[in-house]
Amino acid sequence: MDLLEAIRRRKTTNTPFRPERISDEHKRLLIEAASRAPSHFNSQPWRFIVVEDKERIAQIADIAGDSMKRLMDDGSFVARYRRYFRFDEKESTATGSGIYVDNIPALLKPMVRLVFSEQVGALLSKFGASSILGNDQRKIVRDAPLLLAITLDRQEYKPGELSGLYASITLGAVIQTLWLVTTALDIGMQFISTPLEVTDNKARIVALLKIPDEYELVAIFRMGYKDPDAARNTIDWTSNQRKPFTELARYNDWETPVPEPFASARSLLWEGAETPSRP
Ligand SMILES: Cc1cc2nc3c(=O)[nH]c(=O)nc-3n(C[C@H](O)[C@H](O)[C@H](O)COP(=O)(O)O)c2cc1C
Repeated sequence: MDLLEAIRRRKTTNTPFRPERISDEHKRLLIEAASRAPSHFNSQPWRFIVVEDKERIAQIADIAGDSMKRLMDDGSFVARYRRYFRFDEKESTATGSGIYVDNIPALLKPMVRLVFSEQVGALLSKFGASSILGNDQRKIVRDAPLLLAITLDRQEYKPGELSGLYASITLGAVIQTLWLVTTALDIGMQFISTPLEVTDNKARIVALLKIPDEYELVAIFRMGYKDPDAARNTIDWTSNQRKPFTELARYNDWETPVPEPFASARSLLWEGAETPSRP
């Protein structure tokens, strides 16, 4: 696949994957490609754990489901992330950011917007939304053929210090490389962040994966070959929107907008291409 096509098509896959395992060649390619990422003084602070053991995946799935439910039930998920939720297409297009919750049971629809806007997240549990989200999360993780955990060397990753910033920049480069390569291989990829937001659940995963003290678990992904016929989660979202080019870029200094003809140059990324569709 051409690089620009991979960049254009790269997106989160939040639907189930095909059940077959990712081939050994593809797994090796992913790790080797990721290791081509730049790192501060070539420190290569990352180590990867490729998890294919069904039992361990099931345990992590339970932890992920539990994390999602707990974060919803205690209101912290809504409080922390309310500003990113969009409930109609107009709002999503106008802001050019956030996630557009476009798939939701009709019964929940009117309440969810209200609950998110009034910061009473705990109410959601009453209507069963936290159980639905927890179950969706558990199922989707459990059925993934592969989980990839990324860890960073704590000697390099010290939050609050420059090394923490540099290690985070490196991590971003690694993740984007993984994402572009998976796109080229027709493999889907999704962050599973919620278990890392619940301290005791993160500790359970660290123990399960036997991650030593010298390394910090910083990201978990589910991966598998894409299934174009996969059903969507009960509550689901899309996030294709991006802010307009002229809002994203400035010219020579912060105060100067991008001038013509740069601002209206033809788009080599999007010209003649369709917006990527699910999954
Ligand atoms: C640090 C970080 C954490 C994320 N955590 C999650 C997550 O837990 N679950 C999920 O589905 N997506 C997660 N995402 C993916 C974003 O929601 C997604 O990249 C964004 O909405 C744009 O959508 P796209 O990847 O399809 O372009 C995360 C992304 C980043 C960078």
